[in-house]
Amino acid sequence: MTSSKGLKRNNCLFRRALLLLTAALPGTVGAQSSDQVRSVQNIFAPIGPPAELIHQTAVLVLMICLGIFLVVGGLLLYAVLRYRQRPTDDDTNEPPQVYGSTAIELAWTVPPILIVVVLALATARTVGEIQNPKFAGEPLQVRIVGHRFWWEVHYPKYNVVTANEIHVPVSYLSTPRPVEMTLASADVVHGFWVPQLNGKEWLVPDRESKWWIQPPSLGTYLGNCTVLCGYQHANMLIRVVVESPEDFDAWVAQQQKAPNADPSTEAGRKDFGTNSCGSCHTIEGTTSNGIFGPNLTHFMSRKTLGSGVAPNDDENLKSWLRDPQVLKPGCLMPDMKLEPTQVDEIMAYLKTLN
Ligand code: CUA
Repeated sequence: MTSSKGLKRNNCLFRRALLLLTAALPGTVGAQSSDQVRSVQNIFAPIGPPAELIHQTAVLVLMICLGIFLVVGGLLLYAVLRYRQRPTDDDTNEPPQVYGSTAIELAWTVPPILIVVVLALATARTVGEIQNPKFAGEPLQVRIVGHRFWWEVHYPKYNVVTANEIHVPVSYLSTPRPVEMTLASADVVHGFWVPQLNGKEWLVPDRESKWWIQPPSLGTYLGNCTVLCGYQHANMLIRVVVESPEDFDAWVAQQQKAPNADPSTEAGRKDFGTNSCGSCHTIEGTTSNGIFGPNLTHFMSRKTLGSGVAPNDDENLKSWLRDPQVLKPGCLMPDMKLEPTQVDEIMAYLKTLN
């Protein structure tokens, strides 16, 4: 994917200043591992071609707007100072009235038209490059389905289904590994946005849209749903884990493994079945094959619960099993009114699903 050289040249100085500014923000630069969470969702710290193209266009627009602001504000300031009221002013006569000036008419008509044309062309070029990417090599296909209020994630090539945490391999310049995502919705309109990786995209019921990334740095990049889709819209968090090719292959291999069937947690496995958990959740190799909630086959490989609402640790897992509405009020999983022993047994079972 080549980017616009003209834009790059124009933005070099400005970009350096912005990078200096954004480097001061925590969690935006210098990630060394896929575990490092880039906690600030920062469009001024783009990682990879689509986000960089958007960033360049945004900076171009900002620079042009800054220029307009300085010219207009400067002229205004000049007029205010130069023509301010003075004690010697003669208030009895009108100042000379000027009607019609071809030069001034042209000055405030032609440059704005040219500016709009430049902005339109630059934007159209960016939109075109992002919507019609020329991938170096076959992209990894990932299918994302938005649900209220979580993300279903499929890797058709590997026959892997997971949720909320999207693992992708890092894309080095020498070996580009683009990832193309097909976005769909199971219920209402959602929006998919990971600001450091690419711009916003819609997920519309009965339609499919495309989104792609090619991140060259390791790290966990955060994103959000961007369309108000209900009570827990703000907690439909996205985590894109960019990892080394080796780590990614190991993650795929782990996801492809048969689920754990530890006999010591048989009680929890039974509770899971008898309490209708399996009507909404799938655990491969069991009778649980629901599709309304996240696939839990390798539940413990995920770092968060409830689409990023809390870390996946004992305390939160227990709270979730007791009543999901505590951690995520309004989520579609009801309080299952489990007995305390059932909570412990199901928790012990879920913790074997790695
Ligand atoms: Cu999904 Cu907002």
